[in-house]
Amino acid sequence: MRCMSAKFLVCMLALAVDCKKEPEGGGNVGGADTGVIKIGEVGSMTGTEATFGTSSDRGIQLAVKEVNGAGGIKGRQIQVIALDDEGKPEEAATAATRLIASEHVLALLGEVASTRSLFMAPKAQAAKVPMVSPSSTNEKVTAVGDYIFRACFIDPFQGYVMAKFATETLKLKKAAILRDVRNDYSVGLAKVFNDNFTKMGGQIVDNESYSSGDVDFKAQLTNIKGAAPQALYVPGYYTDVGLIARQAREVGLTVPLLGGDGWDSEKLYEIGGVALEGSYFSNHYSVDDPSPRIQEFVGKFKKEYGGQVPDSLAAQAYDAAGMLFDAMKRAKDLSGPSIRDALAQTKDYKGVTGDITMDDKRNATKPAVVLKVAKGGKYEFSGRIMPEGLKQSGTEAPAESPKKTEGNTAPNAAPGNVPTPTQTPAVGATSAAQSAANTGQPQGVPAGGHPKK
Ligand code: PHE
Repeated sequence: MRCMSAKFLVCMLALAVDCKKEPEGGGNVGGADTGVIKIGEVGSMTGTEATFGTSSDRGIQLAVKEVNGAGGIKGRQIQVIALDDEGKPEEAATAATRLIASEHVLALLGEVASTRSLFMAPKAQAAKVPMVSPSSTNEKVTAVGDYIFRACFIDPFQGYVMAKFATETLKLKKAAILRDVRNDYSVGLAKVFNDNFTKMGGQIVDNESYSSGDVDFKAQLTNIKGAAPQALYVPGYYTDVGLIARQAREVGLTVPLLGGDGWDSEKLYEIGGVALEGSYFSNHYSVDDPSPRIQEFVGKFKKEYGGQVPDSLAAQAYDAAGMLFDAMKRAKDLSGPSIRDALAQTKDYKGVTGDITMDDKRNATKPAVVLKVAKGGKYEFSGRIMPEGLKQSGTEAPAESPKKTEGNTAPNAAPGNVPTPTQTPAVGATSAAQSAANTGQPQGVPAGGHPKK
């Protein structure tokens, strides 16, 4: 069943790519030096995180269309072979093996989820096939080896960003954490948030856990309510977070939820609804950012996909594919070691989500944004935080934001780094806190439950 659905998807996508390419000549399919260049893609096209895979796939397909339209790489067209891992780590490993051993792909794009990237990466590393994860943020992913890269920032930075937003902008003193123990990303981010929030003078009043796939969170949420936090940090994926938000309100826990990029999905609000309004999460970009680079991408994406607005997964995957193609163009040949060397030398690649430069651990150093889930599920831009030493050359600061963060810097290093003191406020001043307090919870936050200004 799994295999069949995966196979079906390969055929479907390969066919789609082949069909589009046919007029341009196509060529041999295989590991030969001429003909199409095969790239493997692994993602959750189905399952509880289906939007991660489908959104990423759309970003990748758009990048492929553009590069092929512009003549391909070294005169050859790109063909992406996508496999569905159904959101299962073992399937991600199997898919990577199959793409490498049977399809002879020259590089791999994926996965989104850190746990699944961690299952894929050893296969890529052992075969010396470069792998670029668009959006796996857990530190351990690229540590697997020198063939493993990512196009995004890492969680020591992402967790710091939300801790800083919680303490400086929302003025919170007490928070609780609910993490998914079966998800490396969630466990890692929970720890970084815990360490940074504590260091910034806050207190974690309760630390609870669940396992992805659970549907009843009421016992943990009741404990959390008893500990009286001012916010609940839930660094999980959108399906779980949506359910958690609803059940939190059901047990009478009305404080805002805080989270990370794993919230980003059009399904989040469909599942969680109004229970999520007034909550915040860190992310890779904001579609409302007036930066020309972002707006150009949003326009192209909408045109390609019938008006669909690209989430951060689509943007990150577009950037990961673009970064890989850029490296392949620069590589002296298309062997694994040559592509790897070129990827490692990536410098100031002009991505939609920021300029990408690989550090010596094959991670990107990029800004993060904080988004608020506003009425009706719209994501409202609430601020941007820059990693230390990074100038805002990639994306311009939103022109009208009262919560300007220019000059604000933060470490992109190991958890526990002391934030660099700056003169400007973290993610803006009172407006975000004000709106959290005023409009945050449709069910009504009890007096005293509001973050104090
Ligand atoms: N950063 C998440 C992880 O590593 C994946 C993710 C990225 C999910 C972006 C949504 C958006 O597991």
